[in-house]
Amino acid sequence: MSTYIPDDKIAEIKESCNIVHLISEYVPLKKFGVNYRGLCPFHSENEPSFTVSESKQIFHCFGCNTGGNIFTFLMKFEHLSFPEAAQKLARKGGIELPQRESSPAQKKLEGEKGKLLKINEAAASYYSNCLRTKMGEKARAYLNKRNISKETIREYGLGCAPPSWDGLLTFLKKQGAALELAQQVGLLKYGKKNTLYDCFRNRIIFPISNYNKRVIGFSSRALEEDSAKYINSSDSLIYKKSSSLYGLNVALPVIRTEDSVILVEGNFDLLSLHHYGIKNVVATLGTALTDGQIKLLKRFTRNVTIAFDTDKAGIKATLRSLSLFLENEISPKILLLPDGLDPDSFIHREKADAFRKKLNQSVPLMEFFIDSVVNHNDSSTISGSLKIIREIAPRLSELRDATERNLYIQKLSHMIQVTEPVIRTELFTEKPKKPEARELLIKTSQQHKAEELLLQVMILHPEVISQVKQAQVLHDCKEPHLKRLLLFIIECFDGNQTITPDWLISHLEEEPLKNIVSELSIKGSSIIDIPKTVQNCIQKIKTASLKKEIQLLNTKIKEAEEGKDENAMQQYLVDKQKLLERKKEYASDHHSIHL
Ligand code: CTP
Ligand code: MN
Repeated sequence: MSTYIPDDKIAEIKESCNIVHLISEYVPLKKFGVNYRGLCPFHSENEPSFTVSESKQIFHCFGCNTGGNIFTFLMKFEHLSFPEAAQKLARKGGIELPQRESSPAQKKLEGEKGKLLKINEAAASYYSNCLRTKMGEKARAYLNKRNISKETIREYGLGCAPPSWDGLLTFLKKQGAALELAQQVGLLKYGKKNTLYDCFRNRIIFPISNYNKRVIGFSSRALEEDSAKYINSSDSLIYKKSSSLYGLNVALPVIRTEDSVILVEGNFDLLSLHHYGIKNVVATLGTALTDGQIKLLKRFTRNVTIAFDTDKAGIKATLRSLSLFLENEISPKILLLPDGLDPDSFIHREKADAFRKKLNQSVPLMEFFIDSVVNHNDSSTISGSLKIIREIAPRLSELRDATERNLYIQKLSHMIQVTEPVIRTELFTEKPKKPEARELLIKTSQQHKAEELLLQVMILHPEVISQVKQAQVLHDCKEPHLKRLLLFIIECFDGNQTITPDWLISHLEEEPLKNIVSELSIKGSSIIDIPKTVQNCIQKIKTASLKKEIQLLNTKIKEAEEGKDENAMQQYLVDKQKLLERKKEYASDHHSIHL
């Protein structure tokens, strides 16, 4: 763990905090067998599959496959970093943590960022003040015309920049602020005579905050037609357009309780929806949606509805984002508004109920995509069908959820009257090396089950680790996650570490591996004969691996035969014999164990 909190302090924190008590503060839990259960706070469910183990001090949700310990729970629930979560738990337990020792470079960077944030916040208060005074009359009238209430203005900290060239400049000077920094964040600019002037003039100002409610940048709209309609801060040390979302600071609690978010383009789309009580909304500020923005959203919810402009360009932009979403394992929905209206104009015309109705009718973007591809081609011809399949297959291949993918294949098959296998061929030939396709096959296999069970026993009964290590099973392990976990456990074991689920969760870097640990250790299957189970698993894994090697050799033998390469063939046949014998050995070992 790359933090400044020493291990003994972490141990002390764990000592002071019972996971059942901690989680109960956030989620009602009920005793269920040896564990506790409740409704998962990380996805929406009606039947509790969120399980907390008091003895192991970990949790796991069997619905969304999220798991962890006290630290990861708090990190996920409150969106904290590890040190932040540790701080909070330490405070609860009355434990004093040593002051952070960051490197001089780190300190300098943080100091600089802090100063930039302060400048932004000073500017935000200046703009907000302007809106309240005589200077803000025109801006107030404009906001009023666009139905933005006082309440909304307050919540979003809206302001206005007066038309003058030095309003902010004078204000900052009076405050004794470092003007150089204001220039760095794009509030001031150098003019021809090397004098500074205000960048935002005669505009409505929308401060852009991160989810910690710090002002990282600004968006602005012209009050007169004569200048660019929207001007936003350019990227700086504290603002990265490609991983920020406007309104996240306000929407976050609602996104969390509703476990869903609506994504809009425009500032006023967001503010108007908010005004009408639809508050789980964030805006992209007109840029094409980026991977960074999706990753940011994904930390809070996976249920995303896109409500971009529904003109041609808007729909194109929405469809372009599909792939990005799928890569992030999100299946977004698209909200279609009539007459090419944007959410702002729609909600003013039709009001909130009509909007909610449209929201309920929003369709999965994948479905919308398939419909539009099919409608744009003639599926009664071979070339038309081919085009349709070739355009849709890559997206289907990106869908991680096998059932969801199958349903779409079935739907497409009906729509264009092409059998499912024909569509499927295109899917797997499209991206034969996609790991998830292979993973899927492995997941259902006996070998996968054996690998999983073996790891479960190792985590719950670490005394078997040396046995597993001796059997040298690592090389034969196929599922990449399980293999990495196995390697990690063996390496830590070699380093004389006592392995517990909680320790593993704290020390693994990869999120999916943490989730596997919590899942396997809470699943609580009752293994009666531990050594025998281990032995069986190892045999299964080894036999499966040998089988694959033999298959591979068979192909080589066939190729050598066809190429009339006698020497190679001889060698392969010898190799194969050896493998067959080894396989037999395993089989007889296996037999003896059952006796
Ligand atoms: N935008 C931007 N920079 C631009 C153009 C647009 O940041 N040069 C962003 C703004 O956040 C804007 C959104 O993209 O709200 C959508 O653009 P557009 O549809 O052109 O603006 P509207 O939101 O419809 O503008 P308004 O309602 O204020 O007239
Ligand atoms: Mn618009």
